[in-house]
Amino acid sequence: MSALSPVNQTSFTDLELVRRGKVRDVYAVDAERLLIVATDRISAFDCILPTQIARKGEVLTALSRFWFERLAHVTPHHLLTTDIAQMPEQINRHAEELRGRSMLVRRTEVFPVECVVRGYLAGSGWKDYQRTGEICGHKLPPDLREADKLPAPIFTPATKAEEGHDENISEARMREIVGTDVTAHLRDTALALYRAAEAHAHARGIIIADTKFEFGRAQNGEIILIDEVLTPDSSRFWPASEYEPGRAQSSFDKQYVRDYLETLDWDKRPPAPPLPPAVAAATTARYFEAYRLLTGHEL
Ligand SMILES: Nc1ncnc2c1ncn2[C@@H]1O[C@H](COP(=O)(O)OP(=O)(O)O)[C@@H](O)[C@H]1O
Ligand SMILES: [Mg+2]
Repeated sequence: MSALSPVNQTSFTDLELVRRGKVRDVYAVDAERLLIVATDRISAFDCILPTQIARKGEVLTALSRFWFERLAHVTPHHLLTTDIAQMPEQINRHAEELRGRSMLVRRTEVFPVECVVRGYLAGSGWKDYQRTGEICGHKLPPDLREADKLPAPIFTPATKAEEGHDENISEARMREIVGTDVTAHLRDTALALYRAAEAHAHARGIIIADTKFEFGRAQNGEIILIDEVLTPDSSRFWPASEYEPGRAQSSFDKQYVRDYLETLDWDKRPPAPPLPPAVAAATTARYFEAYRLLTGHEL
């Protein structure tokens, strides 16, 4: 089992670190494969907090794996295995640290577009709608409230910003970046993934208000689903029992963190303040609860 102390970051001198993201440490294994390690880092209001959420990386990894397998009929994906015993020796020797939070994946050339699908009106979609009556070129009915269900799910791509906020773009702009055929394929695949996932989640008491997918081109030319999939970090999950349009919904996972931070006199600029142990523990419990509800199993 993993240690009780949360994992803030990993560093292996015998593996080549290719990227340290907000949450994941990514290592090159060989020309065809990457190791993606989900740490216990958490960000709120776009700042990485100094406190980690114990076992969060395990939940993100297990949940992504659940969805990759469940949605494999919709699209091929990058996951090779999450089982350390099946990974190459240079990974295997760090088993204690990596177990439960690591994915061995097919290495791809990432399309530089976030494939966002929205079924409900929230976040930057709600902001754009209030300003312009549309989101990414989708004209919407005039009288929608915050958190309302949209007439049908919409594809609202965004650029992948290296720093700061992603920028919503139109499908026409996406065609200029990745081409017409790729745009159509990513859009149709993202919408199909969202529909299948939302039906499953809704039956289990969770609304997937919106979510973000990433895709890449594998070395054999195939376009595959990559990164994490349908986790609390890449999606807005709302408890269906508390759903009430016309106001902001409490998010399933980070609500304790956000509520706590709102009680402080903090300007939401780095460095972020630490979390009290009780808030961190309650947040771990919420991540486990999301996993249990969505998969029907305890982690
Ligand atoms: N199969 C893959 N091939 C190449 N890059 C990938 C693959 N899967 C995920 N990635 C990249 O790995 C990184 C994951 O780290 P993460 O902490 O999520 O970063 P970020 O802060 O950009 O969200 C992302 O940049 C993602 O695009
Ligand atoms: Mg990410």
